Amino acid sequence: MDYNEILQSARTCMGPYCKACPVCNGRACGNTIPGPGSKGLGVTFQRNYQKWQEICVQMDTICENRPADTSFDFFGKKLRLPVLAAPVGAMKMHYGDKYDDAAYNDLLVSACRDAGILACTGDGMDAAVMEGALRAIHHADGCGVPTVKPWDKDTIFAKLTQARKADPVAVAMDIDAAGLPFLKNHMPPAGSKTVEELREIIEYAQKPFILKGIMTPAGARKALEAGAAGIVVSNHGGRVLDQCPATAEVLPAIVEAVAGRMKIFVDGGIRTGLDVFKALALGADGVLIGRPFVTMVYGGGAEGVRVYADKLQSELQDAMQMCGVHTLKEITRDQILRP
Ligand SMILES: Cc1cc2nc3c(=O)[nH]c(=O)nc-3n(C[C@H](O)[C@H](O)[C@H](O)COP(=O)(O)O)c2cc1C
Repeated sequence: MDYNEILQSARTCMGPYCKACPVCNGRACGNTIPGPGSKGLGVTFQRNYQKWQEICVQMDTICENRPADTSFDFFGKKLRLPVLAAPVGAMKMHYGDKYDDAAYNDLLVSACRDAGILACTGDGMDAAVMEGALRAIHHADGCGVPTVKPWDKDTIFAKLTQARKADPVAVAMDIDAAGLPFLKNHMPPAGSKTVEELREIIEYAQKPFILKGIMTPAGARKALEAGAAGIVVSNHGGRVLDQCPATAEVLPAIVEAVAGRMKIFVDGGIRTGLDVFKALALGADGVLIGRPFVTMVYGGGAEGVRVYADKLQSELQDAMQMCGVHTLKEITRDQILRP
């Protein structure tokens, strides 16, 4: 199947909310939660997407004519692209009956590994979600990043103990998840954590630890102080707080604040290899992509993931070649024009 055939097939099985649009930009789904939309007025998802589109790339083809190398080192694992599938959870609630979380993660984690990239997995109110994700990561030789929600300490420690057995390359926490409408007033409780609390959690994890949901330089400094090995500049795809800036808008100041002291990933509205190029030009080390991987899994299973990874790679290589760079490290702000 090609990319468009996979999209078409996804339209037949993604539940009542996701339309598997030609461009996944938050317009058709608006504020549908449950569903793939964004919170409140539903505009943060659209803003995330739009702000990447407003950045232009600077063409310069007077350079050596050799292939562009998109390979990326993710905490010691060599990936063919600086791209991870973002954690997405509560599949049945948001995308209908085709996959539950266990089946989705099982498919996604191995398909990403086989496609030369890596998947993050989501956490759920049901303990079986994390257990299933860890099984999938273990079967994929640790190629995956389990993402635990900011529950109470006992629950987090129990999940991190389980995670050790799966030996994932890194672990993450979506520290912003307390804003999710369906987690409000839930047991176990999920909520904010202090730097000290995070430091204890990160030490306990004994793995490179990524804090997902950082939107300010101050937040990035606190993540550093807590001992994080990386952050994801993310507003959870607009699902946790309405009226946030786009991630592309806040990324440059966060990059400056971090000054190379930890890895920076970014997500929200990144759809193509050209968007990946722009994110790297703004100073990110790599990106996460959420909703489009869901569409690819629903429409094409493992083949969908491979087709999308191939598409991202060829678009990224094309952008690199047309902008006169041959490795990811050479991508800088000189290759983009910001409004
Ligand atoms: C339906 C849905 C479920 C999600 N579930 C999780 C989750 O369990 N954990 C998490 O960290 N992020 C979750 N996210 C957020 C994504 O990981 C990601 O941050 C977001 O989708 C932004 O990227 P996108 O615009 O590429 O989708 C979810 C997003 C969606 C749309």
